[in-house]
Amino acid sequence: MKSIPITLIEGDGIGPEIASVMKKVAQATQLSLVFEPALAGQAALEAYAELLPDRTLKQIKQNKVALKGPLTTPVGKGFRSINVLLRKTLKLFANVRPVRSIPQISPYQGVDLVIMRENTEDLYAGIEHEIAPGVVESIKVITRVASTRIAQYAFEYAMKNGRKRVTSIHKANIMKLSDGLFLECARKVSKAYPKIQYDELIVDNACMQLVSKPQQFDVLLLENLYGDIVSDLAAGLVGGLGLVPGANIGKKCAIFESVHGSAPDIAGQGKANPTAMILTFAMMLEYLGKGKVAKQVEAAVFKTLANKRFRTPDLGGRASTEELGEAVVRAL
Ligand code: NAI
Ligand code: MG
Repeated sequence: MKSIPITLIEGDGIGPEIASVMKKVAQATQLSLVFEPALAGQAALEAYAELLPDRTLKQIKQNKVALKGPLTTPVGKGFRSINVLLRKTLKLFANVRPVRSIPQISPYQGVDLVIMRENTEDLYAGIEHEIAPGVVESIKVITRVASTRIAQYAFEYAMKNGRKRVTSIHKANIMKLSDGLFLECARKVSKAYPKIQYDELIVDNACMQLVSKPQQFDVLLLENLYGDIVSDLAAGLVGGLGLVPGANIGKKCAIFESVHGSAPDIAGQGKANPTAMILTFAMMLEYLGKGKVAKQVEAAVFKTLANKRFRTPDLGGRASTEELGEAVVRAL
């Protein structure tokens, strides 16, 4: 079998712990995957005096697929997010995050929705300046090109994955121009997909609806900032950030990474839940055309989590990161 090279950025905080477990699961699939390590963020700064080294970008472009742990971003000061920079530089325009209930674990059962987050612009464009002492501006950039591209991706995804409904989430009652344009593009795209129901919700109401009746939702289409916030909210519905996988998809390459961050509060303690990382690995397999093995990995995770003995502290259990991982390997 020809080996498949994959760039692996283990990341900061809990990154190395969950990556180590993921690699064991990958080995158990018996696919010929070769993980090629690469650095970004703080670790790259220490090794190469650069936050996003050219060699890392080059390697991702060459391999076309990367798996990435979380990267820490300083709050309110310091360097800009390398996660955002990677997505923008590599034009990974779609951030796809399937959120599903897990039997016996998720506080809400029957949730099965997909967050489709625009990944390259909005307030994450990073255009900020002080116009006078005590007065700053952050500029929200919304373009027709990016809004149409993510809407098209959402509807295509819905068609391919048997989804029935796409809901745009917005605040166009207040941001008439920017969110107005986002909606205009989504509406236009929706016309080409008569089989998919299309509707819209204002973001505050959407949050209320999500915590009262999340089962009603299917594909959620959002700008970058709303997508970021609603992703964590949705993760909370099904049992937390330790469970939700994700992918950043572009035309030329893709970076697979979970929704959660580097979790500095539990890093290095063997407490991190590796489930999100393992399910992210499964999403990557699906992308690589190994859908059958991806399903096996998912089934092994769900079978393992059904046993209370293998649940990590975030799920109310006492298992370590490694114990959960080893159980998944055995189930596989
Ligand atoms: P976080 O997602 O790291 O943690 C939020 C809470 O969830 C914490 O209590 C943490 O312990 C828990 N948690 C997260 N992942 C978990 C897991 N796998 N197992 C068990 N518990 C888990 O968010 P926070 O604390 O706001 O951010 C920490 C750092 O991560 C920041 O520097 C932030 O910029 C960065 N970050 C990076 C992301 C990325 O690389 N894509 C995404 C989100 C945040
Ligand atoms: Mg986030």
